[in-house]
Amino acid sequence: MLSFDDEPVTTPETTAAPTTAQALPQATMDFSPKPIPGATPAAAISSVSVVPAGGATGLEEIEVTTHRITVDEKRIINCRADVNQLVPFKYEWAWQKYLDACANHWMPQEISMSRDIALWKDPNGLSADERQIIKRNLGFFSTADSLVANNLVLAIYRHITNPECRQYLLRQAFEEAIHTHAYQYIVESLALDEGEIFNMYREIPSIYKKDVFQLQFTQELADSNFHTGTVETDRRFLRNLIGYYIIMEGLFFYVGFVQMLSFGRQNKMTGASEQFQYIMRDESMHLNFGVDLINAIKAENPHLWTADFQEEISALIREGVELEYAYAQDTMPRGVLGLNASMFSEYLRFVANRRCKQIGLAELYAGAKNPFPWMSEMIDLKKEKNFFETRVIDYQVGGALSWD
Ligand SMILES: [Fe+2]
Ligand SMILES: [Fe+2]
Repeated sequence: MLSFDDEPVTTPETTAAPTTAQALPQATMDFSPKPIPGATPAAAISSVSVVPAGGATGLEEIEVTTHRITVDEKRIINCRADVNQLVPFKYEWAWQKYLDACANHWMPQEISMSRDIALWKDPNGLSADERQIIKRNLGFFSTADSLVANNLVLAIYRHITNPECRQYLLRQAFEEAIHTHAYQYIVESLALDEGEIFNMYREIPSIYKKDVFQLQFTQELADSNFHTGTVETDRRFLRNLIGYYIIMEGLFFYVGFVQMLSFGRQNKMTGASEQFQYIMRDESMHLNFGVDLINAIKAENPHLWTADFQEEISALIREGVELEYAYAQDTMPRGVLGLNASMFSEYLRFVANRRCKQIGLAELYAGAKNPFPWMSEMIDLKKEKNFFETRVIDYQVGGALSWD
């Protein structure tokens, strides 16, 4: 089980060296491929080591050749090998995360919302401030997860030229759909005003600003004229990955996670809180995958990671901290649930420092401490937990949640 505090799997040392032991033996059969109607004649194909214009995306003609792909040819971006070949594995961490994610499968309807519904309907069940926190978080997350999903399928996927990583991206995309489903399920269960919740990204400035900040990264890459392969575009690609995996999923989600899980810790809105606990477990995996992905690209392309570029990334993370702190103040103008905005200021600095360390940047906020140490424990659901009346027990593929 991967958790919030896991160190990155990839390091420049472990990633740069190809795992040649896993290489399939190169084909030795001498066969002449039969002509395929409409295909490029085999004689015209030199080898798979030609990168098509615009990068290898999987849309090229299938090459008929005696050359078999080895792990040495695999790269995360700008790859010269066929993107359709999952094995031989080179990036075992990506495949393992795909397997772990499948083992953590869950669906929103498996979690009972009956106690939440009763509490929400009770005029004295929750304060106005508590109701605002829940609604604002549903408003932010419901569109944030769709922004992440859009970025995966419209921007990132076509530029990742490694099948193991693409396999994980496909799983992640489904998980983002499950998260969006969870928010819709909570909104429907509580009979909230759908128009109010799903328009918040256009009507609440702190949410709008976070979404605009993220959307710029998607827009850059979704441009059909954008191709990796130059120093400038490879850096823009890396910037997108950091924008989404580190700032969106690794920073922008954490005020909401603390707030929503705090309800559960006080035995309020336990169903919604548990939905968010499962979402946070998925998101910690997305973050860890992103960290490994970013570090692997850095290791394979060390020329991208200059001092100037690091400063550009650090400035983005600082901006992210400010945007998220504004969101914390907006969701919680007064102290509630044992939380207050200044605690979030410290927490975001602590989280930002961890994110910097995970991708090899210097810390930005010296001495920042974690005011919510219980968060690290709650991200790892492998151990049995008893935070709520119902106890969450870890489950595996095909299983359902167990409650006692
Ligand atoms: Fe998500
Ligand atoms: Fe995610």
